[in-house]
Amino acid sequence: MNVISTNIGQSVSRIDGFAKVTGQAKYAAEPHPPGLLYGVIVNSPIARGQIAALRDTEARKIPGVVEIMTHRNRPHTALFEKSYVDGLGVPGSPYRPLHDAEIRFNGQPVAIVFAETFEAAREAAMLVEVDYERWPHNADFEAALHQKYMPSKTRSNYVPPKSRGNAPEAYALSPVKVEGRYHLAPEHHNPMEMHATTVIVEDDGTFTVWDKTQGPQSVQAYLTSALSLSGDKVRVHNPYVGGAFGSGLRAQYNVFLAALGAKMLKRSVRVTLTRPQMFTHVFRPEAVMDIALGASPDGTLQSMIVEGVTDTSRFEHNMENIVVWGLINYKCPNATAGYTIAPRDTYTSSDMRAPGATTGVNFFEMAIDEIAYACNMDPLTFRLNNYSDTDAMHDMPLTSKALREAMVQGAQHFGWHDRPMAPGSIRDGNELIGWGMATGIWDAMFSPTSARARLTADGRLHIATAASDIGTGTYTILAQTASEAFSTPIDRIDIELGDSTLPECPTEGGSWTAASAGAAVWLACQILREKLFKALAKGKNIPAWVKQGLEQDNLTLEDGILHGMNENQKIVLSFQDALSLIGQDALEVEETAKPGLRGTISQMRKARFTHSAVFCEVRVDQELGIVRITRLVNAVAAGRIMNPKTAASQVRGAMVMAAGMALHEESLMDERVGRFMNHNFAEYHIPAHADIPDMDVLFVEEKDSEISPLGVKGVGEIGMCGTAAAIANAIFHATGHRHRNLPISPGS
Ligand code: MOS
Repeated sequence: MNVISTNIGQSVSRIDGFAKVTGQAKYAAEPHPPGLLYGVIVNSPIARGQIAALRDTEARKIPGVVEIMTHRNRPHTALFEKSYVDGLGVPGSPYRPLHDAEIRFNGQPVAIVFAETFEAAREAAMLVEVDYERWPHNADFEAALHQKYMPSKTRSNYVPPKSRGNAPEAYALSPVKVEGRYHLAPEHHNPMEMHATTVIVEDDGTFTVWDKTQGPQSVQAYLTSALSLSGDKVRVHNPYVGGAFGSGLRAQYNVFLAALGAKMLKRSVRVTLTRPQMFTHVFRPEAVMDIALGASPDGTLQSMIVEGVTDTSRFEHNMENIVVWGLINYKCPNATAGYTIAPRDTYTSSDMRAPGATTGVNFFEMAIDEIAYACNMDPLTFRLNNYSDTDAMHDMPLTSKALREAMVQGAQHFGWHDRPMAPGSIRDGNELIGWGMATGIWDAMFSPTSARARLTADGRLHIATAASDIGTGTYTILAQTASEAFSTPIDRIDIELGDSTLPECPTEGGSWTAASAGAAVWLACQILREKLFKALAKGKNIPAWVKQGLEQDNLTLEDGILHGMNENQKIVLSFQDALSLIGQDALEVEETAKPGLRGTISQMRKARFTHSAVFCEVRVDQELGIVRITRLVNAVAAGRIMNPKTAASQVRGAMVMAAGMALHEESLMDERVGRFMNHNFAEYHIPAHADIPDMDVLFVEEKDSEISPLGVKGVGEIGMCGTAAAIANAIFHATGHRHRNLPISPGS
């Protein structure tokens, strides 16, 4: 029998894999309580105006329809109070579903039909007739740029850029200059599992909610405040999540409308969004970035000037850190950046995998490629030349930065040294071959997190925290952490996540969950071990060899069993026996890991980032302009890697998303109606298998004892940062043509 514990750092296959592939994993739209009602939302086809008339007589005739909820008959709750603040939202005035007759964006819910069957609800939803009074709107990003602004007071995570030197003057004096405007199309979230909520109204009136979210406790807090309920009246589950990467950070309108319907009708309700409805919200902001770089002919950066604008709605100020990354990552005496947001009549743009950096790092790295060429220098050499060992924007030391090693090892693996400098110089038949590279940077964050560890009489170790596993491998890495920390085989460990009643854990996101929940589980297991040993030391009927072992410090916990010596004989004690000796059915602790355990972040006074170097090969059909990505190599420096298999999957998945960003994904606005029109997979292209080559992910050794208690930085987002730029730079190397719009198409 294999009873060896499974340590952090091993490539363990997902422990939740079996439940997922056999359909045992339960998602938000799957619970089926008795008397369940199906809710189907009717969305506005106009971008701005108001509802002039709403007729539901025909809709109500459909057999099975129970209620049609609109702004006229919905119950009043705290969300509709003027003073209401969406704690999960962004600064500004949150959109309040079914508040009043006013239309603020195309796709806004105007009614929701509740019926005994989904089919009846859907049919009735099509029969709800709404007359609108149309007001002028603007959904055009270019036009919105004329109204760009910076909100005066914000409570977002936005970090204002910090200038140094005199960038405009240094730019004017630079012998080598490049400048350009870059544009990113809006991209919509397309997770496999669409937004869905099931609200089960229990016999005592409490709500058990299953929601597609990245944070069960945030949704619990949202619903209690939005619906004026007390905390113990709502419990939120999300044990499995079919992909999210930002779309599940804030509560979406489906969860509020499902819960409002349940409150109104006192019945269980399920609301699932369709794929087209996913295009009524959750998109990465459209962006423009103006970048000007100056250098001396020897390839030394002299000046960096960055101006960025991203879009937001008319009612909320969504802000991203798009302009800071190059200023942080490159040594350059003169640098400045500015940032504003541009409002238009759409729903508020939102977070999408590495929000801000995905836009900003990729454009900056495209500009770096351009100036390297202007200096007639290899782009890798140029980056090594201008390498900063500190956070150059804040003039702060870093906890670690193994980007140099990532560049060198990635280049070696890719075979970069064989690359001819001149664009268009490698050819195979009618295909031009190009090699490009870029670097990536993303925050390495840590949030205080609690976890419970409980040893039970059957010898099993139960770990619980309110983390979410959005498909990233959280169950698995936490099982490995517990296995190592409590020296217990992984198959004797149960991991419970995705329940708002579990110990407090921040919403999954920002690549902080591995470091944060990992630290909490590690700490809880350590304390549980101490508690077990203390109980044995104090117990009454404890065998002498155990007492002696404890006194002489040679009682050990290994491979799920206590080992000691009895008169020179090795002897063991199972967890079952240990618990029975101390007369307990179970032993339990709950612990909270706080930033740095060795001191707070502000005490550390160090900046913290994850880095990467991405290398790409493309083939471009010279006649048709078709681009094929044929190789991708990503060398990642992310501190300690908890599970190389799941971590590499994260980076690969992000590279697939980045390939979509570089070549395919683009939400197209019809300005006349203010709607994103290509709201299905036929017209919104996400990469298919045929678009994706074999991808190699290398993890560069990076020991960082300050970053987080386990030395972990997180890998959920870094694969987005730099990959699209490496693809764009490879296309330049193949064709000699600079594309400054993403996604890239022959005409862009
Ligand atoms: Mo990520 S955009 O923090 O889910």
